[in-house]
Amino acid sequence: MDSAEHDTPLYLQLAQRLWAGIEQAAMAAGTRLPSVRTLAAQHGVSMSTALQALRWLETRGHIEARPRSGYFVAPRARRSKRASGVGEAKAGSAGRWSKPVPEIDAQARDHLAIAGAPTAVRLDLASAETSLYPVERFSVLLRRLAYQHRDLVGSHVRGTGYPALRAQIARQAMRYACELDPEELVVTNGCVEALNLALRAVARPGDVVAVESPTYFALLQMLRALEMRAYPIPCKPRTGIDVDALRQALDDGVPIKAVVTVANGNNPLGSVPSDAAKRSLVELLREHDVPLIEDDIFGDLCFGETRPRPVRAFDDAHGNVLLCGGFSKSLCPGLRLGWIAGGRFTERVKALKYTTSMATAELQQAAVAELLATGGYALHLRRLKAALKSQQHALREAVLRYFPEGTEVTDPLGGLVLWAKLPEIDGRMPSTRVLFEQARAEGISFTPGHLFGENGAFDDCLRLNAGNRWTSELEAAVRRLGELAGRTVVPI
Ligand SMILES: Cc1ncc(COP(=O)(O)O)c(C=O)c1O
Repeated sequence: MDSAEHDTPLYLQLAQRLWAGIEQAAMAAGTRLPSVRTLAAQHGVSMSTALQALRWLETRGHIEARPRSGYFVAPRARRSKRASGVGEAKAGSAGRWSKPVPEIDAQARDHLAIAGAPTAVRLDLASAETSLYPVERFSVLLRRLAYQHRDLVGSHVRGTGYPALRAQIARQAMRYACELDPEELVVTNGCVEALNLALRAVARPGDVVAVESPTYFALLQMLRALEMRAYPIPCKPRTGIDVDALRQALDDGVPIKAVVTVANGNNPLGSVPSDAAKRSLVELLREHDVPLIEDDIFGDLCFGETRPRPVRAFDDAHGNVLLCGGFSKSLCPGLRLGWIAGGRFTERVKALKYTTSMATAELQQAAVAELLATGGYALHLRRLKAALKSQQHALREAVLRYFPEGTEVTDPLGGLVLWAKLPEIDGRMPSTRVLFEQARAEGISFTPGHLFGENGAFDDCLRLNAGNRWTSELEAAVRRLGELAGRTVVPI
């Protein structure tokens, strides 16, 4: 207890704590509060102190008493009108967080602002709209599995993943000639957890990790959080990571500890390197004994005739590639299922998984395993890819039509997004950070380019999600964004 708490009467401390709890949990009006007896026992105070705290909250309109029923959260309107002591309670709750939390960087803050706030037109996330995923099928499957296999919910989860799912992932990979051993597979909470485990398995704080530039912004944030240093290697819109530039960096003695690539359907460029380029990447890294972390989450969403092989397929025997994948883009975003095949780092990955989140819930793993086994996934993918391709085409045409002349836009080979580069305006550099603020004010969101690089790179670029069905509203939003883009320059 700090000195401020010493000066505050006990009942008031309790009242403030209760109020902070009500606010933080956004408790709905009418929610019943614990009885006086329970409160007293929970907080180690006398019943009269607990009652005094409740009465204090009641007199300020935060809660209301109902005869013979107890105390309930008051309707919000009444709370704000009559609440004279809110400031005191707020100050009390702020005190709980007064220890400084490490500041997140400005890029991360911007992204959190995008992901958290509701907006009318979502062009920011890299995700298809809900109606393009087999949600009904899942809801039936999940209910049936929970009913038939009680242990999926009622038992402690052990091991590194539901065996049937690990077997299915390995079987899927066989279709594109990539050998995965179910025993090396660890199922994770989203592909992001897989990436996190992979990075920690091969590098330590302070280490240099080469990444594509531009690259998936959460990867850059993750490297920062892990106190690793990102070393950018140029990535090209059709062919992906520039292997020659990477070779040069290694020859120049840059102490690269690991390389991360989103080779197939790269985010944000939508590139897919040739098999030859993948092979030379593998050979280069093996020569220098540098592990490769490959994020193949968009591999199943590439538009070509055949599913592109992951880089890992060219390194099966050596185990130098940690392959990360998942179903958040292709099948079920809300289930947060990912996986990693750790190659020669498998044991380290397993140990890290255990101490990070122990295990991943099995009910959804069982559902996905069943969908993969019954062929439902292949059929769904065919439909999803067709929709994404046509949506991407429509969005690209609209960008070319409505954005300022000279705007360059990718023609992706897969994935969910488009990447556009704005031209200079009257000799001045456009800023999608500025554009982002203006568009948000009109209910249109996209992802500003600077998030995908470091030190202000790509501020003239933006990423647009093509996962939404094409509608006249969407077209109007792109037109408006194009108008705004014609006037957004870096403020002097
Ligand atoms: C390249 C890449 N990897 C991983 C993820 C996140 O995967 P998950 O949602 O399964 O954690 C994303 C999401 O946009 C992504 O673009």
